[in-house]
Parts: sequence; structure tokens; C-alpha cells
Amino acid sequence: MDPAQSAARLVEKSATTEAVPLHQDNQGYAATIALPRPELESDALSLMCRRRSYRGFSDEALRLDHLSECLFAGLGITGFVKPFAESEEQLPFKLTPSGGGRNPYEAFVYARRVDGLAPGVYHYSAREHSLGLVGEQDLPSVAEVLAGQRWFEHTAALVLLVANFERTMWKYPHPTGYRVVLLEAGHIAQNILLAATARGLACTPTCAIDDRQAVRLTKCAQLTQSHVYTIALGNRSTIPTVMDPLHIAHNSSSPVAPG
Ligand SMILES: Cc1cc2nc3c(=O)[nH]c(=O)nc-3n(C[C@H](O)[C@H](O)[C@H](O)COP(=O)(O)O)c2cc1C
Repeated sequence: MDPAQSAARLVEKSATTEAVPLHQDNQGYAATIALPRPELESDALSLMCRRRSYRGFSDEALRLDHLSECLFAGLGITGFVKPFAESEEQLPFKLTPSGGGRNPYEAFVYARRVDGLAPGVYHYSAREHSLGLVGEQDLPSVAEVLAGQRWFEHTAALVLLVANFERTMWKYPHPTGYRVVLLEAGHIAQNILLAATARGLACTPTCAIDDRQAVRLTKCAQLTQSHVYTIALGNRSTIPTVMDPLHIAHNSSSPVAPG
């Protein structure tokens, strides 16, 4: 399905099927305990409240230091620890939690317009905090990479998160290991989105990617080394959404305080 077909399907489905409740209240339980109002002005919560998926990317180049901060927030290493005294390996400590400290993700940056970077695909080395050029030939459009999502076309950079399943499944060779790897993409992406929000950037995560393009860009073609999640980054334009067939209001910014 292309995005327009997908939107038409949603409209048809909502007209012909019963809505699924999207939250569960506490009526019916033995007691309800009202919680203190969250301090939305605190550093952490106010940053989290400001994060919104914003698809209005300007044509201005992304600053390299802003990209660097986003990558560090998602995958940067802050220390190493030996898992046990006899171990020869050192597990990296990062800004996100990781099952068994195995840190299975690598990031690839598809740089379209980043200050100081030629357009191309780069691998982020967390240990070196550096970018390695993977390729700069035959670069696809962002819409081609993101399965026809034309509203991402002005994105300055895509961060592609590639899972190395063997890292985690060496320690957890069972379904939990697989679940752990998939879960961690969310932690990493959220940190990248929050770092981008702190810098006033436009950012949105997406799962909709053309797998052939992901393999072409990252050169990771094995089942055990597979692209999972992508984050689009750039400077904000004043037009919030160039085109969004799902008609989601992405520019409402006032957080609703519970309670
Ligand atoms: C796993 C996941 C996949 C998503 N995929 C897409 C996508 O393919 N395209 C898109 O425009 N937004 C995508 N989004 C963004 C959601 O539409 C957005 O998070 C949601 O509308 C809530 O808005 P908020 O991010 O501003 O809170 C995705 C979000 C998540 C968590």
C-alpha cells in the first residue's frame, strides 16, 4: 500500500468497524488513589513534554555538533565494565539501558545536508565517537528509503539503527534475547529524539522503511544484522507537516497535565 491507500483504508475501517478503546480507566477496581500532579516544569519532564514528532524539515543544513549530540545521546559510551573478574571483554556503559550490557545496536547516518559532511552514508563508531564513510554513490531520495513517505523529503539526516542480534543472543540464546534486542531500539531512539528536542530540531521516528534500500545504504545484509528503526532529523521549518495523510495534529504543543 502507498500512503494514500493506507489513509483510505483507515477511513474505511473507522466507518465500518467498532473503535478499540485507547485507554483504560480505574472504574471498577476496589479503590482509586489520585496521584500527585507531576512537576511538568522539571528539567526532565519539560523536555519530554516538548518532544513531538514534527515532519516540517527546513532545507537548512543540520549542524554537525547537533548530529554528534544526538548520536551520543543514543549510542555514546560513557564507560566500560568487566562482567566478571576473569572476563576478557569489557561491556560498554551507555546512556540507555541494555539487556546484559550487550548493546546490540550500531547506527548508520544517511547524511543529506549536514555541515562538514559530504552527502553519503556513515557508520557511527560509539567507541571512537567518529563517523566512517560507508558510501557516497547512487544516493536514493529520502522518500525512496522511507517507503514513499514524501513528507520526509526535506529531512537533513536519517539515523538508521541496525541490530546485531548475535551480540545479545550470545548471552540469551532464546526468545527473550530477541525481544531484548527489539526493545532497545526504542530506548535509543527516544534518547536521540530528546537530544534533538533539546536543540529545537525537527525529529520523527519511523518504522516504515524499504528494506532493500536499508541494506543498500548500510551494507548490512545478514539476518543477524538487521535494520530495525529509523529517526529523521533536521532543522524545523515553520510549516509543521508538508503532507501527512493520516491527518494527525502534530503541532499541538501544550501538554495536558493529568489530575
Ligand atoms: C514505532 C513507531 C513507528 C512510527 N512510524 C512512523 C512512520 O512510519 N511515519 C511517520 O510519519 N511517523 C511514524 N511514527 C511517529 C508517530 O506517528 C507519532 O509518534 C505519533 O503520531 C505520536 O505523536 P508524537 O510522536 O508527537 O507523540 C512512528 C512512531 C513509532 C513509535
